[in-house]
Amino acid sequence: MPNRPAPTDPFDLVVFGGTGDLTYRKLLPALYHREPVGHICEDARIIAVSRRQLTDEEYREWAGKAICEHVKDVDQDALGRFLKRIQYVSVDVAQNTGWEALEEKLAGREDVIRAFYLSVSPDFFGPICSALGEHNLVTEKSRVTIEKPIGKDGTSAHEVNETVGSVFKEHQIFRIDHYLGKETVQNLMALRFANVLFEPLWNSAHIDHVQITVAETLGVESRAGYYDTAGALRDMVQNHLLQLLCLVAMEAPESMAPDSVRDEKLKVLKALRRMTPEMVERNTVRGQYRSGASAGGAVRGYLEELGNDTSTTETFVAAKVDIANWRWANVPFYLRTGKRLASRVSEITIQFKDVPHSIFLPDAGRIAANKLVIRLQPDEGVKMQVMIKDPGPGSMRLREVPLDMTFAEAFNARHPDAYERLIMDMIRGNQTLFMRRDEVEAAWAWIDPILSHWSHVKESPKPYTSGTWGPSSSIALIERDGRTWHDESD
Ligand code: NDP
Ligand code: BG6
Repeated sequence: MPNRPAPTDPFDLVVFGGTGDLTYRKLLPALYHREPVGHICEDARIIAVSRRQLTDEEYREWAGKAICEHVKDVDQDALGRFLKRIQYVSVDVAQNTGWEALEEKLAGREDVIRAFYLSVSPDFFGPICSALGEHNLVTEKSRVTIEKPIGKDGTSAHEVNETVGSVFKEHQIFRIDHYLGKETVQNLMALRFANVLFEPLWNSAHIDHVQITVAETLGVESRAGYYDTAGALRDMVQNHLLQLLCLVAMEAPESMAPDSVRDEKLKVLKALRRMTPEMVERNTVRGQYRSGASAGGAVRGYLEELGNDTSTTETFVAAKVDIANWRWANVPFYLRTGKRLASRVSEITIQFKDVPHSIFLPDAGRIAANKLVIRLQPDEGVKMQVMIKDPGPGSMRLREVPLDMTFAEAFNARHPDAYERLIMDMIRGNQTLFMRRDEVEAAWAWIDPILSHWSHVKESPKPYTSGTWGPSSSIALIERDGRTWHDESD
C-alpha cells in the first residue's frame, strides 16, 4: 500500500504558458493526480497565465478536458475540488501588459509559498522574471521552475541563468529535467546505493561498457517549430541522456541532500572528455528520419512533416563518450536517442566483462558476460542476465537467463508521472532532482564543441527509414569496437 503523503503547506502555483501543450498534456494531469490522495492542502491555488483572454470558467472547462483526456479513472468529486482551485489571468509578456491583474490576484498572500512555473518559450524567461521583480511579486517564499531547454548553447544558457539569477536566488530556482522525476531513474540511485551488491563491481575493472538508449516512435508532432531550432542533441542529449549518464557514473554522494547529489553529478560532467573535431567525426552520428512505418502505420518523413525540404536538423544522435577519471577509464558510454525509431524504449545497459577464465568444456556453450538492464519505460524494471546450468542429468551445459524484476508486478501500484513528483518537490522546496546552474553550464561545455563542428562541416544528417533503429553508421559506431547495441528482446 503506497504511503499517503502529508498535505503540502498552502501555496499559489502560477503557471505561465497555462494554455500550452505541456500544461495540457502533463502539468494539469500531474497536479490533478495529487488531489484525490490529499497531497494538495485545502488552501492551495493554481493560477494559469497566458496571453489569450479567457474567463475562469472557460479555462476550467479546458483544464477539465485535459484531465479527462490524460487521466484514467477520474474521480469526479476530486476533479470538482481541483478545478475550483484554478483561476485564470491574461498577461501578454511580449507586450508587457496585464501584470496588474496578476498583482491583484496574488495580493494579501505574501506569506504562502509562491511558485512560478515558466512553461513558455525560453525567450520569455528573462522578461517574465524581470517583470515579476519590477511588480514586487517575488517574495521570500517564492520559487521559480524553468523548463528545458535552458539556452541553445553555453553562452545563451549563461545569459538565461544570469537573468533568472538576477531576480531569484539559486535556492529558489528549479531547473526541471523530467527524466530525473521518473521512478526508475530514482531507482537507479536506490539500486546503486541501497545495495551492497553492485558498488564493488561498478568500475572499469568489471564493466566493459555502458549503453544508454532513449528511443521514441513518435515524430516531432505539433512541436516541429521548436524542434527544428533544437535537434536531438540539444533536445535530449544535453539534458536527459547526460543526466542519466551522471547517475550511472557518479560517486556515492554523502547524502541525498540536493548539493551532495549535484556536486557528484557535476564532477562527472566535468570529467567528460571534450571532443576534438576528429573525435566528433569518429564518435558521433546524426540522423534524420524519412517516411516509413511506425507504431503500425505509414508515417511521413521529417522534412514533409516540417514542410521544409532544406532542414538539416537531426532527429537522431548516437555518440561514444569517454569519462576521463579513475573509475571509468577505458569504459565507453554509448548513447543513442531518436524519433520514429523501431520501438519506444528507454533503458540503461551495464555490460559486465567476461569471466577471466572458463573452467567448462567447450561443449558447455558460450559464457555470456553478465548484463544489467535498467528499463525506464515502458515496463519499468531491472533485469540481470546471469549464466546457470541447464537443468538435467546430462553433461554440463550453460544457459543465460534473466533475473527479472518488473516493477509493475512487484508493486501493484500506479507509477506516478515524473511531473507529479517534481512539481510537489518544487513546492516543498526540495532541489535534489533539479539541475543546478553549474551542471547545466558544464553539460553545454561538453555539447558545444560537437555543435560547433557539426555546424562547421555543414554535412546533412544521415537519412534513416522511420521504424528502424537509425542510420547504419550508428550500428557501425559500436560494432567497430566489437560490441553491439542491446536488443530489447534479449
Ligand atoms: P506551447 O507553444 O504549446 O505553449 C506556449 C504557451 O506560451 C501558451 O500558453 C501561450 O499562450 C503562451 N504564450 C505565448 N506567447 C505569449 C505571450 N506573449 N505572453 C504570454 N504567454 C504567451 O509550448 P509548450 O507547452 O510545448 O512548451 C512550453 C515550454 O516547455 C517550452 O520551454 C518547451 O521547450 C518546454 N517543454 C515542452 C515539452 C512538451 O512536451 N510540450 C517537453 C519539455 C519541455 P497563448 O496560447 O495564450 O498565446
Ligand atoms: C522532452 C523532449 O524533453 O522529452 C521531447 O523535448 C521528447 O522531444 C520527450 O519527446 C520525451 O519524454 P518521455 O518522458 O516521453 O520519454
